[in-house]
Parts: sequence; structure tokens; C-alpha cells
Amino acid sequence: MEKYREQARNILAANDRGHYTIPTSGLYPFQWNWDSAFAALGFSHVDLDRALVELETLMANQWPDGMVPHIIFHEHDEGYFPNADVWLTLRPTPTSGITQPAVAGFALWQIVQRAAGQPNLLDRCKALIEPIHRWHQWFYRIRGDQDGLVAIVHPWESGRDNSIDWDEAFERVPTEGVSEFKRRDTSHANPEHRPTDEQYKRYIWLVEQFRGLDWDNAAIAQQSKFQVVDPGFNAILIRACTDLAQCAESLGMEPIAQESRALAELGINGLDKLWADELDQYLCLDRLTGDLVMSESVGGLLPVFVGIDTEKAERIAERIQRLKREANYLVPSHSLADSRSEELRYWRAPIWLIVNYMIARGLREHGFSEQAEEIDNDSLTLIKESGFAEYYSPIDATPCGGDTFTWTAAIVLELLAHR
Ligand code: GLC
Repeated sequence: MEKYREQARNILAANDRGHYTIPTSGLYPFQWNWDSAFAALGFSHVDLDRALVELETLMANQWPDGMVPHIIFHEHDEGYFPNADVWLTLRPTPTSGITQPAVAGFALWQIVQRAAGQPNLLDRCKALIEPIHRWHQWFYRIRGDQDGLVAIVHPWESGRDNSIDWDEAFERVPTEGVSEFKRRDTSHANPEHRPTDEQYKRYIWLVEQFRGLDWDNAAIAQQSKFQVVDPGFNAILIRACTDLAQCAESLGMEPIAQESRALAELGINGLDKLWADELDQYLCLDRLTGDLVMSESVGGLLPVFVGIDTEKAERIAERIQRLKREANYLVPSHSLADSRSEELRYWRAPIWLIVNYMIARGLREHGFSEQAEEIDNDSLTLIKESGFAEYYSPIDATPCGGDTFTWTAAIVLELLAHR
């Protein structure tokens, strides 16, 4: 195990750019939002100061309205598309204009606990609470509905870029009228493992729609041609609110603790609306049509990461057991029984260690430690067999996408720390 710990540490060090960490060189040369929160979690096993720097850099790029952008373009790099010149958000340090899953609050609570007894570090943790809380409030204010559920306005926001969950809603986003562009991702990674050209046109169509609205978030939330409520995205946000409340309480910020707990409660109640009894999991909701989306993805399992009732958590545990009959490794990002799934294509079936980690952690907290252990073991088997890849085939562990990947390394450090 020491060998893997060493390899994971080396990957974090190699991707470390001093005040932020890139996901992997070449394919992703900037700071990504939820990648950074997982990087902080990984660094917390190596160097707590460095873990905090990661979150501090992320939050220093928060927008005035509270949003925290999904990419921060610290340096110019022509090797990535769409880069800062496409987004044109006019931020002091250029950023994209959409957000990503709110993992930072979860990471901060892990750091606070590990920094016990170190007043300098705890003061820095304390300084992060208010900005992260403003981000959470932004979600419920700008993207929330009367049920306490928040929507994403671009598939990239979910972090599960080309999930089958978005196919139907994405059909309504035009492919015509997009400025000409040249993809860069396919020169760094196998095009067969990446989203399609048609999907890229739609991704960029939305970026151009939002740019045309001058990055006014209230207008974007109203007018985006893509508006989907993702149970996984909501669960991560709910978890972050619960954990931020714990940070605030333990560091003497009671008013934020209360507000944050109230947001989490609102979110948990909202999730009920997305439960699909016949499938033993949650589903996405298309906000523009009001319909649930029949698509059995890992987004619908992630709510086990929050305080849903035990019966539903148990049903999710059973659902995961059934997935093991379709796949050799857990947890495929989409049911392989679905004819639209693709073994090696990004979020359409492959396994991602960060998702495995959140599901396993949730299962354990709900009392299903055996199932959690099985997932953790599969995660470690994947890196032993195939290295620290971006994602893996659920059938034969083929490593896919980029390699020496930051969040894969971070999760390995986290898993090994508990062994
Ligand atoms: C891809 C993933 C996204 C991640 C980014 C950087 O776009 O889908 O979740 O944040 O790469 O690793």
C-alpha cells in the first residue's frame, strides 16, 4: 500500500502549480472547481497548509454575486478549448461563467477536523466559511425552486459532462449558428472516450447564449435552453451545507451554522420529488418540461451521501448490488443494461473514483459498511490494475481519458488513510 500512497503523493506534487492544482497536464491545464476540492482533500493527508491554499485560491475567484466558477484560467494555454477568450467573462483572473458541484464545503469540514489544535490553520478555515456559504446561498437564490431543488444550466456544471441524463434535454439545444471552433481535447485523449462533436456544438451553443446575456446569472437561469435538476448535484450541495454548518458550529459562527442547516433540510425534502420507486434510485428532472428523465445514472445514487431516510439508502445499496451483476467493477456511471450506455465513453458507463468515494462514504454512514467496503476495494483494484487514470471501464478496467490524474490520486490517499 505504501507504494500506491507514494505514487499518489507524487501525482499531487507533479500537478501542483503552487497555489492551485491542475487535474492533469495537457488535457486540463487550469484549475477546475470540484477537482480542486478533491485535491484539497488529498493534500489534507500530506500538508494541511497546502490543502487550505487550494480552497483559498478557488474562493478568491468567487464572483461578486456568490457564484464560484467551474474553471479558473490562471495561465494562458492554447491547448484547451474553450479557453478564456471564448468565455470572455471579464473577471480579474479569467474564469468560465458556469459553476460545478459544490464539494468545497465537504472538503473544508474534513480539513477543520484534521486541523484540530492548530489555531493558525483554524483561523484560515474560519475565513473560508462565509464565502462558501455565500456560494450555497447563491444556488438556492438563483437556481432554486419552491421545492428546494437547484437546477444546472449547462451539462458541464454537473461534472458529468456527457451523461445519458442530459440527452433528451440537450436535443433542444441547437447545433446551428455556433461559431467555428477546433476541439483540443481529442488531441490529448482518445476521441472514442470523449463526448461527440455534436455534443460539443451544443456545449458551445450554450456558452455563446450565456455570453450574449453578458453573464447575468439571473437572466441565464431564466433563459438557458438547458435546465435540469440533477439529484447528484443537489446531494453534493446538501452535503456541503450540512458540513459547512458543522464547520461554522465548531468555529463559533452560530448564525451561519443555522442558516446552512436550514438550506440542507430544504434540499433533503426536495429530493423526495425525484425518487423513482420502481427503480430504487433518484432521477433527474427536466425543468423546462417538468418531466422526470428515465435514465439510470450514478447521479441518482449519489443522494446516499446525505441524510435521506434509511429505507431509501437501503434500496440504493440493493440497486448497487444489482449493478454488480452487469459490471465487473463498481460503480458504473450508468446502467450497462441501457442500450445507450458506452463502456469507454466518459460519463456514459465508465467508473470515476470520486463518485465511488462519495457513494461508499454515504453507504457507510447509513450503516451499509459491507457494500461500502466492496466499492472501496474496487476503487483500489482499479488503480492497481490500471494506474491513476481519469476514469475506467467497468468491464475490464481499461484506463481512459487522461492519466496521472489529481482526483484519482486524492481519493487513493483518502482511502488509504482509513486502512
Ligand atoms: C471533465 C469532467 C469534469 C472535470 C473536468 C476536469 O470535464 O467531466 O467533471 O471537472 O474534466 O477534470
